[in-house]
Amino acid sequence: MQNNVSTNALRPFLTDDIPDLPVPDWRLLGKGLWGEVHDLGDGSILKLVCRAGGLGSGESKVIRESAALRILGGISNDYVRVPRLIGSAPFKNGYIGSAMGMPPLAGWLRIERLEGEGIDGHAVAMVPSRRETLGERLGAAIAALHEAAASHLGEMAKLGDPILRSLKEAVVHLGGPSDKSRLDRLETEWRGSVSAPVVLHGDINLSNILYTERTGPIGFVDFAEAGAGAPEADLRHFEGFGPLRDAILRGYSAFLGGKPDMARYRMATAVDAAVTLAIEGSAGHPREAMRRRYWLDECLRQAGIE
Ligand SMILES: Nc1ncnc2c1ncn2[C@@H]1O[C@H](COP(=O)(O)OP(=O)(O)O)[C@@H](O)[C@H]1O
Ligand SMILES: [Mg+2]
Repeated sequence: MQNNVSTNALRPFLTDDIPDLPVPDWRLLGKGLWGEVHDLGDGSILKLVCRAGGLGSGESKVIRESAALRILGGISNDYVRVPRLIGSAPFKNGYIGSAMGMPPLAGWLRIERLEGEGIDGHAVAMVPSRRETLGERLGAAIAALHEAAASHLGEMAKLGDPILRSLKEAVVHLGGPSDKSRLDRLETEWRGSVSAPVVLHGDINLSNILYTERTGPIGFVDFAEAGAGAPEADLRHFEGFGPLRDAILRGYSAFLGGKPDMARYRMATAVDAAVTLAIEGSAGHPREAMRRRYWLDECLRQAGIE
């Protein structure tokens, strides 16, 4: 991947706030809604989180991800790995990179670099054998994460239920009375249905896993939405993926020796649809906007909410 000129040049601005930064050559690993992630070339990555991005605030994301990695970092078995946190802090002055055209920054995290590659979902979905293997291994890894983290449930529960947090954030952006009343009902149903909470990653999607073809554990990164709640929350981002979704549910069920609760699964996918609509709204081609709206209506209907 390309060398990132802007962060190499940014380093002098960062050294006052971030101790022990290695000398570049840094490499840009990802640039998303919330900031940038750089491979520092010494077995660690640096995540710079902006104050504003999608729903919620950058400050809360830095705090939540740091807390989650402090608790879960180092989990490692045949199925799943969670990187260790090396350091993190809010920026005293978020305008640190303004001279370079960077938006205001909330904070930074320095994290152990995990092996593996990000997944190009579309490429994998095209090849049935790769898709089935990825899906089954990912499903098992999700169940294995829940199991390996079980002893930390008390601490992780303090970070909240990602489903309830997402619902609250989505409602603010979906002002219409019909959306509000349906999402309120969804919240009531969800609260009534969560009986045995587990530790949740909170945002398991193909951009937040590191995967090595053939064998080895799957790495999970990006714990900014972590917390505790019903296990089906960690399966919710795959409903639109058809056969990949089926393979994930299969791998998850096989590891667990049981099935996900499909009523809760439907509620969780409806929350995901609400968040997507809240973030992306009517952006892009009008047909895309209609598709997001239809998807929310359909997921709510599937969850029994008309
Ligand atoms: N600990 C890590 N080891 C290796 N790669 C990582 C690590 N953390 C993040 N990445 C890579 O950087 C990308 C963005 O990181 P992520 O934490 O998901 O930030 P964002 O909030 O921008 O989604 C990931 O998709 C992944 O490819
Ligand atoms: Mg991510």
